[in-house]
Formats: sequence, structure tokens, C-alpha cells
Amino acid sequence: MAVRVDVEFGAKDAFRAVKRGDLIIVVDVLRCTSSIVNALANGAKAVIPTETLKEAYRLRDQHPDYLLVGERKGRKPEGFDLGNSPLEFVPEVVEGRTVIMTTTSGTRALVRGRRAAHVLVGAFLNARAVAEKAAEIPHRRKVNVSFVLAGEKSLFSLEDFLCAGAIASEFPAGRFDFSDKALAAVLGFECVKGALSEYVGKSRHAKHLIELGFERDIEFSCMLNRFGTAPIYRDGKVTLMR
Ligand code: MLT
Repeated sequence: MAVRVDVEFGAKDAFRAVKRGDLIIVVDVLRCTSSIVNALANGAKAVIPTETLKEAYRLRDQHPDYLLVGERKGRKPEGFDLGNSPLEFVPEVVEGRTVIMTTTSGTRALVRGRRAAHVLVGAFLNARAVAEKAAEIPHRRKVNVSFVLAGEKSLFSLEDFLCAGAIASEFPAGRFDFSDKALAAVLGFECVKGALSEYVGKSRHAKHLIELGFERDIEFSCMLNRFGTAPIYRDGKVTLMR
């Protein structure tokens, strides 16, 4: 039987995918999942997402050696080591470190999806690797796939939608049955894949980031298949699957 592929548009909708028993792929291209993918690719040991600042500060108190990173309104909160720019997660800073991360929507989507049996972290940076991993798990365990787009305040987010399309377009033909939302995401991605950063740069959240001076984050986050890794969120931590 074909694997059903669906899309949820906001962090708050993660519970629907969990209830269906689906494998979840959380996407927050700007910038949470791009930062996680880059941090792990550059040698971070694990990323621990939290929904609230309070929880992040508490964890840091318990583990002073962990890095504390993230954003509120796009900016680094007080006392944090790093913000949420993927470009900050360089090997010299993150190698061998456990990272506590809290962001407005991305880490919320992850935490809200935590009861799913499988949660993958997707971005343009690792689209193909995530598709390959997602294709392998449902095949073995017979589960369907849901993209959870973090969005902002659970609003529709163009860049996450296009990224769901980028990942879904890598699923092996024939074995996957796309909902209309999933199919639209693939069609959207196919239309703009030659000029991703240009179109993503027109999105609401990208404009906000450009205002804050984070234009380079958009270009970096739009680098398709830069990494061959598919991070998995399990037992409260995101790590690279071996
Ligand atoms: C979020 O999780 O809301 C985002 O990653 C925000 C951002 O840092 O641009």
C-alpha cells in the first residue's frame, strides 16, 4: 500500500500528525531547522529544543557546559551564547558541544511533535537525505508521512512549503500518495527551484530577517542538498542518525 504524504501548516497542528501515527518531518527553513542541520553537520553532539525561554535557562543552569542558543523576534535573547543564524554554528564554536535551542516557532513544532515515533529535521540544506531516510522508515514500518511546517504564529509560510516540496520531490516515484497540499508543495518547488533564494527572499519572514540584517542567512538556508545528513529528534534530543 502507498505511503500517504500530508502537510500541516503550523506548529500547533503537529498534534494532528502525531494522532495519525505519522512519521513527522519538521521544517523551519528560516531559520531553526537550517541552524540545527548546520550545527550537527559542524560537529555539535546534540541539540535539545525547548518551547520556552524559561526551560532553556533552567537547562543551562543544570548544565553550564551546554551552549544556549536561539531567538525571540529574530534576535538573540539576553544571556544566550548564540542567536539563531545558521552561520553562527561554525565548527570552532559547536564541535563536541550539546546545544540548548529555543526559537519562536521551530523548536515549538519539534517539541509538539515529540510523541511521534519518528521525527526528522528537514531543511533545503538536507532535503534529499531526509527524503531518503523518510522513505526507508515507512517502508520498513508501514507508517505515513506528515510535514509539519513551523510557520510563524502558525501562519502559512512560503519557504517551509517550498522545502516540503523539495523533500517530497525526492521520494521514490510510485510508492507515495500525495495529498493535494503535498502535491501543491512539490509543484511550487519545481517552479522555483532554479531561483530558490530569490523567491524565498520575497517571503514575509525573509523580509523581516533582511530588516534585521540577516540577508546572508536566507542565501545559506536555500543551499539545496549541501549536507547528506538526516537529524532525528528522539528522547528530547536531535542527533545525527548513524
Ligand atoms: C523560529 O523558530 O521561529 C525561527 O527560526 C525564527 C528565526 O530565527 O528566524
